Amino acid sequence: MTQRTLVLLKPDSVRRGLVGEILGRIESKAGWTIAAMELRTLDRGTLEQHYAEHEGRPFYEPLMEFMASGPSVVMVVEGERVIEGVRALAGPTDPIAAAPGSIRGDFGTIVRENLIHASDSEESAARELKLFFPELD
Ligand code: PPS
Repeated sequence: MTQRTLVLLKPDSVRRGLVGEILGRIESKAGWTIAAMELRTLDRGTLEQHYAEHEGRPFYEPLMEFMASGPSVVMVVEGERVIEGVRALAGPTDPIAAAPGSIRGDFGTIVRENLIHASDSEESAARELKLFFPELD
């Protein structure tokens, strides 16, 4: 089942020089490819659409501020079961609960600065790919 997913390496990944390390983990999965990639500082409008379902939650404003605080690596990853697969590589939202060997488990401590976003379903992937890469079919 070949899929596409939207992956963001968040501003903490870029600031901490972890992009190469994280990209390597994604790239080294057999058959997965990076179909598009760009360093981009996310604007408020894009973030409001991306995180619309979380508006009003206590973490919403600090999350928005953090996500706009510097460039992220925005990319499309393509391959076999890639939606579930990148989520598994990332580990759970809270890095302290994430197992060693996962990206968040190896490098994270703070929930807000949890290094990576990956679409959580085919529906989210379709919506997020359209938002971040409207030019791709
Ligand atoms: S939920 O409750 O399952 O809908 O939430 P979850 O999918 O775990 O998280 C949704 C996004 O919000 C981020 N998040 C937080 N940011 C800052 N502080 C706190 N406490 C917090 N809790 C959740 C989380 O990283 C998700 O962002 P993305 O970009 O999808 O990783």
